[in-house]
Amino acid sequence: MGVKHIDDEHRYFLTIINKACDACARGNHQAFPLIIDELLDHFREHFETEENFMAETNSPELIAHKIEHQQFYNKLVSYYSMVYEDNRLFSIKLVELTNDIYNWWRDHVLLVDKKLSAVNL
Ligand SMILES: [Fe+2]
Ligand SMILES: [Fe+2]
Repeated sequence: MGVKHIDDEHRYFLTIINKACDACARGNHQAFPLIIDELLDHFREHFETEENFMAETNSPELIAHKIEHQQFYNKLVSYYSMVYEDNRLFSIKLVELTNDIYNWWRDHVLLVDKKLSAVNL
């Protein structure tokens, strides 16, 4: 396991978020429960990949990084329960929700995950 695997997982996130953008553009609200479900699976696996890598390389930032992952994961779980309640699905601003997920991911990858590649230099 190494940095390339982490990069591949980051790219995979983009394929999922593209589905969310596509669903927003088509007004396909019903697609969101499955998309958030897919994101939860993806992030559970991805965060484990990064945290294991950091543990193996004795990164001093493991704890702080783990906390960021956990906070975001909790947020996704709350989105998951929101979109699974049919009566609320149409009142949720899905574009904002998608942007929020994307913005967290972008900032996290650029500011926090970026440091992982320095471990292997
Ligand atoms: Fe991370
Ligand atoms: Fe990451």
